[in-house]
Amino acid sequence: MSSDTAQTPAPPRLVQSSREGDVLVLTIHNPPVNAFSPGVPEGLKAGLDEAESDDSVRAVVIIGGGRTFIAGADIKTFNLPREQAPDLRGTIAKLDGFQKPTVAAIHGTALGGGFELALGCSYRVATKDAQVGLPEVKLGVLPGAGGTQRLPRVVGVQKALEMMLSGNPVKASQAKELGLIDEIVEGDLLQGAVAFARRVADARPLPRISEREVEGASPEVFAAAREGIRKTHRGQLSPGLIIDLVELATQVPFDEGHRIEGEKFMEAKDSPQSRGLRHIFFAEREAAKIADVDRSTPRREIRTVGVIGAGTMGGGIAMNFLNVGVPVTIVETSQEALDRGLGIIRRNYENTAKKGRLSLEDVEKRMGLLTPSLSYDDLAGADLIIEAVFEDMAVKKAIFAKLDAVAKPGAILATNTSTLDVNEIAAVTGRPGDVIGLHFFSPANVMRLLEIVRADQTSPEVLATCMDLSKKIGKVGVVVGVCPGFVGNRMLVPYRDQANELVLRGARPQDVDAAMHALGMPMGPFEMGDMAGLDIGYASRREAAKKSGEPMPDDWVDRVVELGRKGQKTGAGVYDYPEGRRPVPSPLIEELIESYRAEKGIERREFTPDEAMKRQAYALMNEGARILEEGIAQRASDIDVIYVFGYGFPAYRGGPMQYASEQGLKNVVADLERYGIEPAPLLRRLAEEGKTFTDYDQGRMGR
Ligand code: 3HC
Repeated sequence: MSSDTAQTPAPPRLVQSSREGDVLVLTIHNPPVNAFSPGVPEGLKAGLDEAESDDSVRAVVIIGGGRTFIAGADIKTFNLPREQAPDLRGTIAKLDGFQKPTVAAIHGTALGGGFELALGCSYRVATKDAQVGLPEVKLGVLPGAGGTQRLPRVVGVQKALEMMLSGNPVKASQAKELGLIDEIVEGDLLQGAVAFARRVADARPLPRISEREVEGASPEVFAAAREGIRKTHRGQLSPGLIIDLVELATQVPFDEGHRIEGEKFMEAKDSPQSRGLRHIFFAEREAAKIADVDRSTPRREIRTVGVIGAGTMGGGIAMNFLNVGVPVTIVETSQEALDRGLGIIRRNYENTAKKGRLSLEDVEKRMGLLTPSLSYDDLAGADLIIEAVFEDMAVKKAIFAKLDAVAKPGAILATNTSTLDVNEIAAVTGRPGDVIGLHFFSPANVMRLLEIVRADQTSPEVLATCMDLSKKIGKVGVVVGVCPGFVGNRMLVPYRDQANELVLRGARPQDVDAAMHALGMPMGPFEMGDMAGLDIGYASRREAAKKSGEPMPDDWVDRVVELGRKGQKTGAGVYDYPEGRRPVPSPLIEELIESYRAEKGIERREFTPDEAMKRQAYALMNEGARILEEGIAQRASDIDVIYVFGYGFPAYRGGPMQYASEQGLKNVVADLERYGIEPAPLLRRLAEEGKTFTDYDQGRMGR
């Protein structure tokens, strides 16, 4: 043996073959989720060859080692050239044509390619807590290994569309009712699967889903599905392809549908939309990792929570904990405020119950976990206390000084501030290591983002505990540093400036908003401003001007506020709202803008929708690049997560940083210069080096 060969480690065996008497068992060992990585198809095919050539083998069981069956194709291999990608389709074709019974034994989750592989087997058995599904749409692709052709052959057109367009898995019991699972195994899965395999060992002909007919096709079903995705998946490519392929399954033989499915999968996989969604999939998981906080950092136990303030924010925050069974004590300054706050929480739960998503018993259970109080002394036993009062530094400091006096040692003291300096708040306590910012987004019981604000002295233990807690309450936690507005709101400042500038130079507010709709945002900047209330920004600008002693900078939007038009709440803002929340362009505001331009001697010019969109999206990204360089965010991908989960940036664009990378940072810099916007130094550097923000993240994380 040459020394070269001696040093090369043998490739890990991802599929192990073993015998249970006359049944051959193929166990996949590819932790953590047994994704279909290189090595898995080779192992499975070799196992099938072994079963084929050995007459003493009567049936084959395929099972996952560890916590799950195959959770899908290995998404990391999607960037590989076609010929290097693991051969999932070939493996399933081999199973489909196999002459002995094959049984998929499912526990955990059989998703995407993993479930498609199971559908290629003759039979499927599962534990009762297993789940199966085809979530590809969430990654901007479609089931590309027979799923679009096999699923409708089992569950019919309607249900197949529903499953593939939502991407949501179904539980084993429902899968059994749908005919997707042949048997639910009680007790040991492997033993149950082997016993099942023996029972069907002599069954011939073998059941093959590919040979079945598709039921439930009608032009109306497809028309309704196409109409439906215009609302649920606006602007996205893969849902339409999924519908086309299911329709195809009703029109052409399996092999033909399967071949076309393969081509369409490649088309979807290579689209910027799928790259964006895959980016967000990994970015969300990456965000949970805190660079200098070790995984083994001890966590504090959070058994009870205190919330200060029963307003909209405090109430929403409390609900997050009540929802997962954690008791909350909520403190207010007056009985009236307390009653009002509790009333809103109860109404929220009752509305959910009315929609059938919560039982009345659960409403009472959750309300029963909530203790109203007028005294800080009642917070003495809380493991975590979150302050959610209005944004006033003096008030917050007074609260934290009181908390320092009453909270037990080791309690985490959090502020929900969206702009104020968490270091300054921490400094009034004798335990700054226990102080942290937990910035929830409104409505706090709905929005998934949680900015976890790390102050200078926040301890690693407190950080790690809050990150775990975010997952427990169903949030996506992202660690950010201290600066005005942290990450998300800080980026809004240049974004709004750019929107105002566009109008000032000649665009109409509705065109500026429409440009962001075209990007996929549910609301443009002016619609968002009207919804949030224009007076809030106005007041903070006036406050800042007062502090600095400078006059308040002149701005056309401020003149809108000065007319008493504060947004939706006053029935008028930048837009008119003659009928509820639908914005209607206002002739009065058009006039105001026109005369403002005339006063400033600004000549009107045209903006293409593309320029209007890029100016705004790049304004976000440019500030993001500054934030990144200052170390306020750990990674560019964290900024993307913040915008997707907190601000409605479309996931299929991957977030503002990924969107810019996708355009090519060199092109972005050239555009910014053309628009007269100064590119951030980091952006310029990356563009010169021909890199993307993902390259930057990987360089910093040493990957
Ligand atoms: N490929 C590669 N890595 C994957 C993966 C996949 N399909 N699924 C999960 N992982 C990785 C995650 O990135 C994470 O890595 P990390 O520890 O380094 O951060 C690790 O596995 C654990 O994942 P989670 O943190 O998400 O673990 P959970 O237990 O919370 O959830 C899960 C497990 C439900 C399987 C979830 O990971 C999931 O939904 N995965 C994606 C499943 C999927 O979309 N499958 C379809 C793929 S596309 C396909 O199959 C195409 C085919 O039709 C041709």
